[in-house]
Amino acid sequence: MRGQFITLEGSEGAGKSTNVDSVCAILDSAGIDYLRTREPGGTPMAEALRDSMLHKWEEQVNPLAELLLVFAARAQHLENIVKPALDKGRWVVCDRFTDASFAYQGFGRQLDLTKLETLELWVQGSLQPDLTLYLDLAPDVAETRIAHRQKDRMEGEQREFFERVREGYLARARQFERIVTVNAGRPLAAVQVEVGSVINRFIQDSRPVADRNA
Ligand code: TMP
Repeated sequence: MRGQFITLEGSEGAGKSTNVDSVCAILDSAGIDYLRTREPGGTPMAEALRDSMLHKWEEQVNPLAELLLVFAARAQHLENIVKPALDKGRWVVCDRFTDASFAYQGFGRQLDLTKLETLELWVQGSLQPDLTLYLDLAPDVAETRIAHRQKDRMEGEQREFFERVREGYLARARQFERIVTVNAGRPLAAVQVEVGSVINRFIQDSRPVADRNA
């Protein structure tokens, strides 16, 4: 049986990394074999593409080049890491995936969404996450939380950009049932409790019916 594919999304400052840790800890205690990875990245070549995409270039970065970089990294990551793991029945926990391309490049950079859909189909075929946790945070709160951080090229964008990114995530959450929106404006502990209950329910629902009734 193919493994389950879980992705986490959220703005800078939403506590995404800590919540990826929580998800992995729950899978560990449930005895589930999984692979933890991230996008852009997850293979040596895809990590190099990530560095290039987040680098603060002195030249203007063309939004289309940015989009193609994330999809090039994704093509590499999917073929070499994600698909082989899922095919072996391992679960995959991925820190960001294609919802981020729709939110950041589609809504944030205002690229044509049909172009993204074409790339998505080309690179992924029918592969989609089974569950996506979207940690939702208002950009003004996010800004305060990451004020002290050294910012990469994306994190240095203006508030309006992040307003559009958020709008993109929320629009996708309305469109796809697999996306669960979690209010990340609350204290981290409360967010972790909710993330934990979503993951536990998902594990329960993923078990074969015979196991569930045992
Ligand atoms: P993060 O690992 O800290 O979330 O950083 C990854 C950055 O890359 C973040 O700013 C979102 C951005 N990104 C895109 O713009 N498009 C994508 O498709 C992905 C996966 C990430």
